[in-house]
Amino acid sequence: MNSIAILCSGGDVSGMNPAIKHFVEYALAKDLKPYLIYDGYDGLIDGDIHEAYFSSVSGIINRGGTILRSKRSSRFLDPSYRAKAKANLAKLGIDKLVVLGGDGSFRGMSAFCAEHNISFCGVPSTIDNDIVGTEYSLGVDTALNVIRSAIDNIRDTASSFSRAFVIETMGRDCGYLALISALTSGAELCLIPEVEYDLIHYKQKFAQELKNGRRYFIAVVSEGIKDSSQSIAKWFEDEVGIEARVTTLGHTQRGGSPTTYDRLMAYRFVTHAIDALLSKDGANSVICYNSGGFNYKDIETIAKSKFELSSELLGYLRYV
Ligand code: F6P
Repeated sequence: MNSIAILCSGGDVSGMNPAIKHFVEYALAKDLKPYLIYDGYDGLIDGDIHEAYFSSVSGIINRGGTILRSKRSSRFLDPSYRAKAKANLAKLGIDKLVVLGGDGSFRGMSAFCAEHNISFCGVPSTIDNDIVGTEYSLGVDTALNVIRSAIDNIRDTASSFSRAFVIETMGRDCGYLALISALTSGAELCLIPEVEYDLIHYKQKFAQELKNGRRYFIAVVSEGIKDSSQSIAKWFEDEVGIEARVTTLGHTQRGGSPTTYDRLMAYRFVTHAIDALLSKDGANSVICYNSGGFNYKDIETIAKSKFELSSELLGYLRYV
């Protein structure tokens, strides 16, 4: 019986647990022996690798986070630790890996596979949705729903108390979460790292709106913009003339029960990843989702350029 293993690397997302569950069930259906690797690449190095059964993954489909835990491993950058990882896999006869992670994790795995004759297939998993070559990464929908729910709650208090709220989303250098959230929550202001802005352009408009009877503002800003959320709030108070508060959503966006969409995408990504490893078609690649379908891309394609938001989405920013 051939063996196959799964691990999570980098920032965790909601959707990893459904992916792990389906990995075990689909591997067994394909007559593969499934293994679970704990603590990302550190678990490969330390041999924290365990055979999995149906019972290992029961009751996890609705849980956020990952039962395998995730890590950013610095040891994996060192070839001597990678050799240790290979020896651990060889002992168990594992030569195929499914990696749930981001492009940094895939780059590390690609180096490992080239050195040691292992095959991997990456499943894009990051709430930032900033992986080149795929329109969707696991965890994004759950994060967007967490943000939507938070903004809906904030709107209740903002409208009752006549305040401006600056709501900060995650995303690193990518404004996807902030932009989609602003468009789908009716925000008055959205600031993202990809687009230069000057608050002076909003001052007169907002002050006029206040005079005309507007009672509150919702501003959605991405953590990667040049100004701090506190300074945007101060600008509302000093320049627009309305009391302001900041809500930093932080790691709430990385948790919560995976949405139906993320559970389905976990199922689909993992099916394609295992099929890729079995057919060798997509070995040492990342399974990407575009225009409603799945295709495999090699890591060089994924890593060579910087992710850019589509011009369609960016175009909507001017109407926020
Ligand atoms: O890449 C996912 C992400 O959640 C980013 O949006 C955020 O900037 C970062 O990870 C936070 O990292 P950490 O969990 O290490 O604080």
